[in-house]
Amino acid sequence: MDPADGLIASPHDVNRRLRESAPVHRITGTDGNPAWLVTRYEDARRALADPRLSLDKRHATPGNYRGFALPPALDANLLNMDPPDHTRIRRLVARAFTPRRVEQLRPPIRRTADRLLDALGPHGTTDLVASYAAPLPITVICDLLGVPEDHRRDFRVWTDSLVAPDPARPQAAKEAVAGLLGFFTDLLAAKRKERADDLLSDLIAVREEGDRLGEDELMSLAFLILFAGYENTVQLIGNAVLGLLNHPDQLAALRADPALLPAAVEEFARHEGPALLAIRRFTTEDVTFGEVTVPAGETVLVSLAAANRDPARFPEPDRLLLDRDTSGHLALGHGIHYCLGAPLARAETEIAVAALLERFPELALDEPDSEPRWRASLRARGLAALPVTYATQRRTDAPHRRTEKIL
Ligand code: HEM
Repeated sequence: MDPADGLIASPHDVNRRLRESAPVHRITGTDGNPAWLVTRYEDARRALADPRLSLDKRHATPGNYRGFALPPALDANLLNMDPPDHTRIRRLVARAFTPRRVEQLRPPIRRTADRLLDALGPHGTTDLVASYAAPLPITVICDLLGVPEDHRRDFRVWTDSLVAPDPARPQAAKEAVAGLLGFFTDLLAAKRKERADDLLSDLIAVREEGDRLGEDELMSLAFLILFAGYENTVQLIGNAVLGLLNHPDQLAALRADPALLPAAVEEFARHEGPALLAIRRFTTEDVTFGEVTVPAGETVLVSLAAANRDPARFPEPDRLLLDRDTSGHLALGHGIHYCLGAPLARAETEIAVAALLERFPELALDEPDSEPRWRASLRARGLAALPVTYATQRRTDAPHRRTEKIL
């Protein structure tokens, strides 16, 4: 069996085997492209910061790489670029996407979380991905970009059909790209006419030393922020809750001391981060990792999930340990492409977990004996569903009553 199939079915097991016996291994991805998979922490961290590994598709040997073709107006984004273009655009974005803007989003994120929890009522059973983890980030991204309320339904439909394509409707992805392209064109035109207090308006206005973002660059950025910011966050929230429910001692520790939360979010990301792989990179010359030399023009896939569970860096890596040293984990990348939305991803996950635990002192897996329902993907680690039972009040359960009787 090609490792790619095993990686989808059981990523952590296959990563462990590869890390031990073939840490830089040639695989064929599900898209048919050959690639070199890097699984050890030290190699992975070095690869992410190595300028000889380019994100620009023009460095791929022709025929070696076929990606999903986006129109140029959506493709001119940071994750396809190297310096100096990358440096220029990233600097401009950083001037608009500031920590202050993320802080401003905290109260609306909490209100959205509370509203979604209100809708669940005081007790019951729900698929927490569908009812909570998914709707929260899409609302946050729409708030961030300044998508008006009455356009959010369309926006959600297009996003979903790209994030989770329906095999029965192959046209849907094309319609979604066309829809989003038209939508962002209109939205940018409207924001140009009338500036608002949102990221898109700031991106339009941002200038530095006479430099500003071009039209394709703006569109591609809006598109990248939408995708990079949406799906990953849904999955991190779902994976975090699953991790806690599977580690009751850690859940109890967090309930007892909510100040653990920021450290816990780092550990959720290390332990079961949503991005199994970094964005594909292309070697601009021969690059040697230990005993393996990857020739120029080949595709390198850095496994963030494998690196984050390398026991040489994180002892007992398969355990969720909220107070462990997670410094240097790679769940949000490393080097010049380090996640631009990291402060927002952290804020959303913190708020989502805090609001959920505060609301429901009773929270448990609805099917504790079943395997989690992971979506089939080589790159994304996310749950198709997370059925839980919940209640706003602790059950006066048997052990308590028994104690009273004895007393
Ligand atoms: C839990 C949530 C998230 C995870 C796990 C995550 C993960 C990552 C990773 C691993 C990278 C680096 C990719 C590479 O070098 O190959 C990255 C880059 C990026 N992320 Fe995130 N991300 C998350 C949330 C967000 C959010 C909320 C936003 C924006 C609102 C965002 C925007 C970006 C952008 C624009 C880049 C490209 C940066 C560059 O190329 O300079 N991400 N993210």
